[in-house]
Amino acid sequence: METKMWKTDEQSIKEAAQSILNGEVVAFPTETVYGLGADATNEHAIAKIFQAKGRPADNPLIVHVDAPSQIGRYVQEIPEAAQKLIDHFMPGPFTIILKNNKEITPLVTAGLDSVGIRIPNHPIARAFIQATGKPIAAPSANLSGKPSPTKANHVLEDLKGKISGVIEGGATGVGLESTVVDATGEIPIILRPGNVTLEDIKKIVPSARMNNAIQKQDNQPKSPGMKYNHYEPDAPLYVVHGDSDFFQKQIDLYRKKHYKVGVLASDSLMDELDADQLFPCGENDKEIAAKLYDGLRYFNHTNVDLILAEAFSTDGVGQAIMNRLSKAASDHLYQTK
Ligand code: TXA
Ligand code: MG
Repeated sequence: METKMWKTDEQSIKEAAQSILNGEVVAFPTETVYGLGADATNEHAIAKIFQAKGRPADNPLIVHVDAPSQIGRYVQEIPEAAQKLIDHFMPGPFTIILKNNKEITPLVTAGLDSVGIRIPNHPIARAFIQATGKPIAAPSANLSGKPSPTKANHVLEDLKGKISGVIEGGATGVGLESTVVDATGEIPIILRPGNVTLEDIKKIVPSARMNNAIQKQDNQPKSPGMKYNHYEPDAPLYVVHGDSDFFQKQIDLYRKKHYKVGVLASDSLMDELDADQLFPCGENDKEIAAKLYDGLRYFNHTNVDLILAEAFSTDGVGQAIMNRLSKAASDHLYQTK
């Protein structure tokens, strides 16, 4: 299949939307990561998403709509706490899980009695959804198990020839997938941390909490996606917990064994390190979030045998960054005092 590259002018968006109405899948930019969209009411189109990504059928997709007024069409009820979250965080990098009313095909929801809904806060994403006039089911537009795409090129690396096209909207801003919140009950529960943090949510609904599996990294996934491998670069990745001397010692140790070593770290730590390939990812949590997946993919185009990544702070968006980095990692190296 030829994979088209659409620009973001009105005519191109119209063509991409027509492709959706023809039952095809189209990758499009959002403020978090690129999504791989299809008409959520068309089972054949949804099946193509799972096929193109190699995604397990028991991992449900998020439904994207263009306005809060659309949410009611797909859910049984909106509890009080959920309504507050919708009012404050949508549109935005936020997905709300509510009880579904069976309007959406079970292929999208993986047969669960709930459905995840998101309203992207990205002009191209919104224009595209609007032009289709459909709810758009969309997971991240990567091969299952690979880092999510934050640039159109990342989508092509994984899906060229397998999808009808990509809307080229430049680099996404946030860089990490949306915060997923189960709001089916009275107490909202974060199933996947993101740019909207627990602290942000607690300001609106104080009882909100983190899913235990995220804190303990245990094996009881509440969100079906939690049990699969994620974000893996080609070379093994170790997360290094320690100071710059400890970090350099680890690099030197592997280089002595003739490994080519890549390093992913903040600018300031990078200044103190010497390795074969370097990917500095800025300084604060927002910058690191925006560059993380580009960094993981960068090393696939180098000859490194091993990637050593900084254990970033877990403050603020850092919790989401370390959640993704830990999933990408094969191991952790700890400095002992
Ligand atoms: O930022 C994002 O959320 C991006 C953009 C494209 O919107 N999408 C995205 O989709 O990251 P995906 O499929 O890669 O991740 C969705 C996550 C998965 O972990 C899935 O298991 C979970 O949300 N999920 C979806 N529906 C759910 C439901 N009804 N109950 C629990 N978890 C659900
Ligand atoms: Mg994904």
